[in-house]
Amino acid sequence: MLLIVGGGIAAYKALELTRLFRKASVGVRPVLTRAGAQFITSLSLSALAEEAVREDLFSLTDEARMGHIELSRSSDLVLVAPATADLMAKSANGLADDLASTVLLATDKPVMMAPAMNVRMWRHPATVRNLAKLKGDGVIFVGPDNGPMACGEFGPGRMAEPPAIFQAAMSALDDRPKPLAGKHVMVTAGPTAEPLDPVRILTNRSSGKQGYAIAAALSALGARVSLVSGPTALDAPAGVDRLMVETAEEMLKACRSRLPADAAVCVAAVSDWRAVEVFKSKLKKGPKGPPTLRLVENPDIVASLAARGPSRPKLVVGFAAETENLEAAGRAKLARKGCDWIVANDVSHGDIVGADDNEVLLLTAQAVERWPRAPKAEIARKLAEKIAGALA
Ligand code: C5P
Repeated sequence: MLLIVGGGIAAYKALELTRLFRKASVGVRPVLTRAGAQFITSLSLSALAEEAVREDLFSLTDEARMGHIELSRSSDLVLVAPATADLMAKSANGLADDLASTVLLATDKPVMMAPAMNVRMWRHPATVRNLAKLKGDGVIFVGPDNGPMACGEFGPGRMAEPPAIFQAAMSALDDRPKPLAGKHVMVTAGPTAEPLDPVRILTNRSSGKQGYAIAAALSALGARVSLVSGPTALDAPAGVDRLMVETAEEMLKACRSRLPADAAVCVAAVSDWRAVEVFKSKLKKGPKGPPTLRLVENPDIVASLAARGPSRPKLVVGFAAETENLEAAGRAKLARKGCDWIVANDVSHGDIVGADDNEVLLLTAQAVERWPRAPKAEIARKLAEKIAGALA
């Protein structure tokens, strides 16, 4: 791994990232930019990397040991973390005026960037342009995340957390076969939030964990993944294209906008109902007593995607959270919604929704498979492999 550390406050996270790689026995060859060296020292970086830090393009001693062209090709992946607006701009435009930008121009290896910058810099048309150019050049992006920033502002621009970057880099380095390469899979995840008035919503306890794990597992097998997500606190899995929505109707629209897809996996806990009338001002207590909420049924997203037609994905997978008669209820749902498979889970014990484990039945038209209790990531991996088999 060639790790280029750019100049931003997030540079301190590059130290933790280096530690994660070394713990996993991945070699780290660090390059520190001049701006990066304003935030962390080359001593800390080299101590954690167990390798000398390269900082200067024109260092005679460094160049004598390994020239910058050789350096740029000496690792399986070039990772830029943090990738500043400046480094992105240089790389997008082919500038090479220091060691980091020269390495980025000279490399023949995959490049991954973890951007970190102020939200306005991230949203500036120049950065948006550079991002599109870099994506077009095949650069893989991790993050940025949303959240409070060191500069006091809030929004997208925080560098992804070291474990997420580590995971993304490890999957980029993973040269196992990618059976879903060239396939597009849509995943819905999380709850929906149906407004009642400007401050109140109708929602549920779905965490989104299972759907996000499935999106990540499909992406790890090489699929292009569109993740249509209701409100959750989870970060988008690396390499997955996420669309955030609130209501069931928005979720359906977002799903339709992403067709065609080879497969759709509907994991979202979509609210069955929404309010007939969304009140313009906050409902208040008063002498007339509590308000009566009138509800109307939401569109069924999985049924709508599974409906016959030219844009129907080849494989449509639904989920069924049931409290009794798991198999029978799952089978009824399979028929009613017109999907190909149903993943049914028993939520009667109250320890599945929001938890890290899951225990499911996989129902197809012909068969039923009982999968033992396992972490959601493991269930996701198994399902992704099964989907790869069905799309092969
Ligand atoms: O009918 P029920 O909500 O139990 O069905 C669950 C399955 O249907 C899940 O796959 C869920 O994502 C999907 N669903 C949907 N749109 C709805 C309701 C459920 O896509 N409005």
